[in-house]
Amino acid sequence: MSQLSIAHVPRPMRHFTPAQHWMNDPNGLFFDGELYHLYFQYNPHGVEHGNMSWGHATSSDLVNWSEHPVAILHDERHDIFSGSIVIDRHNSSGLGDGSTAPVIALYTAAARDGSNQAQALAYSLDGGYSFTKYAGNPVLDRNSADFRDPKVFHYSGPAGDYWVMVAVEAVERRVLFYRSENLLEWDELSGFGPQAACAGVWECPDLLELPVEDSAETKWVLVLSLNPGGVAGGSGTQYFIGDFDGTSFTPDHEQPARDHTDFATLAEGAWLDWGRDNYAGVSFHGLPRNRCTLIAWMSNWDYARQLPHERWRGSMTTARKVDLLRTDTGYAVRQRFVGLPAAAAAESYGAGTHELALQGPTLIDVQARDLGEEPVRARFFRADGSPLSELLLGAQQISHQRPSGRVDHELYPSTQHMPLPPSDGRLCAQLLLDAGSLEVLAAGGLRSLTDQLTGEETPARVLLTIPGGAQSDVACTPLPQHGSTATQELK
Ligand code: FRU
Repeated sequence: MSQLSIAHVPRPMRHFTPAQHWMNDPNGLFFDGELYHLYFQYNPHGVEHGNMSWGHATSSDLVNWSEHPVAILHDERHDIFSGSIVIDRHNSSGLGDGSTAPVIALYTAAARDGSNQAQALAYSLDGGYSFTKYAGNPVLDRNSADFRDPKVFHYSGPAGDYWVMVAVEAVERRVLFYRSENLLEWDELSGFGPQAACAGVWECPDLLELPVEDSAETKWVLVLSLNPGGVAGGSGTQYFIGDFDGTSFTPDHEQPARDHTDFATLAEGAWLDWGRDNYAGVSFHGLPRNRCTLIAWMSNWDYARQLPHERWRGSMTTARKVDLLRTDTGYAVRQRFVGLPAAAAAESYGAGTHELALQGPTLIDVQARDLGEEPVRARFFRADGSPLSELLLGAQQISHQRPSGRVDHELYPSTQHMPLPPSDGRLCAQLLLDAGSLEVLAAGGLRSLTDQLTGEETPARVLLTIPGGAQSDVACTPLPQHGSTATQELK
């Protein structure tokens, strides 16, 4: 393994990156009625993970972001680890000033000597731009060194109306649920786990109440990141579908805890993403009930600290809307990219190789029918003609082969496999290409694969090979590039 840095890392145009310095998890996502607020794990002093604080950016469309000064700064004793934000509309905390609803951040105060992680609160009276740490911190301390990542939401249901916090005892592989009337005092409700994939620590939980398409029904989905032990290796995100009665989460299917790391066993689980680079994803607070949008960190702890960098290091995924579909085998999470323009007209391609020339970020929509054993092959090339990566799009599986490219790290080159639901020889996939990444949604959004292509421009050319006997319709939609995410270079 070597310490790297290269001359030029192109900045993604459709993904948030900070103007400078290190970034990891999204934190405190909320919508204030006009703007989406994105906070993030941030080192204000450099491109390494450290001095953890909350950076801040806002957007009206989840594509174009403006970065603001650091929202919550570390101090000599504590790092500000991941957490969430709620708007305290009825001033249940008493921290409001009588005119504006306080914006309340719950985060993990992580002792710098590693001895303790407890949940702490900071409040903002200017809509989320500047925060004051609560004098009575921490608000929830279990005397644990691995108790972190509080995600708070307002529960309103048969059991009553109150705040619920979901957090993890990371090493115990346990999700803990707490309840509060005022965001300051918390009572334990229940716990979940260990269950399913447990080969790494559990981090960044979120509990979503999602609508089921074409019904009045909702189901609860527990989203849980784990590292390592993800389906594609290293950091990954699994989910559990079930019910939350205001006290406990009960999954539809109980699973034994497994510390397997082999693909065949892991592939039996439910994964939010099958690529290498989709971690710590959480949802926005403040959206209308049953509407849910997620953003994740587009990286993997396997190599995040060693990726080549310029002034900044780290990128978010494209925002995705999520809901549930009822399928033959149960419920499944469906994702859709947010912020896409109207699709270009599709062209029909028969068997053979077709060349697509791209100019910057592009969405390629591939629909194929009558696919046999042989997959559709998409080969991506740089402007100088050299190969960049390759996707095999079959009716039963999609695979992305990512060579080391401009990254000199042993865990970076890899091939990701994503099994697809039965489809009768049909394939439907959306490929979102930007500088530095490829995101694939397939099977109508039931499958997602996110891989960084660090250090790369958007491919200049794609060779698409349609196998004999198959037919395809391909739409290539250029994506507006205005979304440079760090237009404000912070002084
Ligand atoms: C997940 C994570 C969290 C923690 C944060 C620290 O990537 O490890 O559990 O709060 O990053 O930056």
